[in-house]
Amino acid sequence: MKTVAPIAVIDALEDATWLDPVVDLEHKLSHALIKPQWLRDLLHGVPQGHPLHPPLVQVPLGAWFSAAFLDLVPGSEDASRRLVGAGVLATVPAVAAGYTDFAALHPQQMRVAVVHASANFTAVGLYSVSWLARRSGRHGLGKALSFAGLGIAGLGGFLGGHLSFRQAAGPNHAEDVPHRVEPGWHSLGPVDDLPTGTLTRRAVGEVPVVVLRQESSDAVFVLADTCSHLSGPLHEGEVTTAKPGEGPCVTCPWHGSTFSLRSGAVVNGPATAPQPRFSTRVVDGRLEVSLPGAG
Ligand code: FES
Repeated sequence: MKTVAPIAVIDALEDATWLDPVVDLEHKLSHALIKPQWLRDLLHGVPQGHPLHPPLVQVPLGAWFSAAFLDLVPGSEDASRRLVGAGVLATVPAVAAGYTDFAALHPQQMRVAVVHASANFTAVGLYSVSWLARRSGRHGLGKALSFAGLGIAGLGGFLGGHLSFRQAAGPNHAEDVPHRVEPGWHSLGPVDDLPTGTLTRRAVGEVPVVVLRQESSDAVFVLADTCSHLSGPLHEGEVTTAKPGEGPCVTCPWHGSTFSLRSGAVVNGPATAPQPRFSTRVVDGRLEVSLPGAG
């Protein structure tokens, strides 16, 4: 089946390198404006284990859709104006979350994200002017600006859908791991063959895993190697001690997500989904691993 024209246009946006100066500027601004790691983690959605931007955008869109319905009902001007204003205010946390996510995307995703954000900023501008027009009694102009804003916000939403579902910015990129690993124990070879204190890559069947054999205790930690954020190779990352009590952690080389090697939990985003963690045991000098919930 042929790709429909709007999708072909968005596909072309992914490779539109002429957008890169804007992408670079927005990337720097995101890091400069939203600095503390705890705030970035909150806006990415680390505490709730899901990206925060998608649910936040429901608030302004819901308010604006409701205003559009009320604009068709005579005598609802006051309620409609309040909804338009509430929608504009509700874009502030949604923009902050989206802007934080933006800085940890692949270049192709960032190009689409820049156009997505531009459409949404245009919609916010139209709704802001609509609110001012309604407040000064020019309801006809206010309604026209709102309907224009709704159309542009729809375009922005379409691009957001492309980012989420076609380009997979946001989903858990390690979700397939339990479905690709057979239940039970799997040998990773002689434990003495593993280097100590450094990350190394092994495979359970066809699933790559990152292994750390600790120097101090000889404990061995094994996580899925494909980062849940955007599939970065964790074995190329760094061993860190990100938080007291968390034990050894691994930091992804691509965007700095940090996972506990003990539990697979996200210690710092942008990842929001934990990394699949394998149980380990040593039998006759050979390291064996098993993934809880595999199969
Ligand atoms: S791929 Fe982005 S942090 Fe790992």
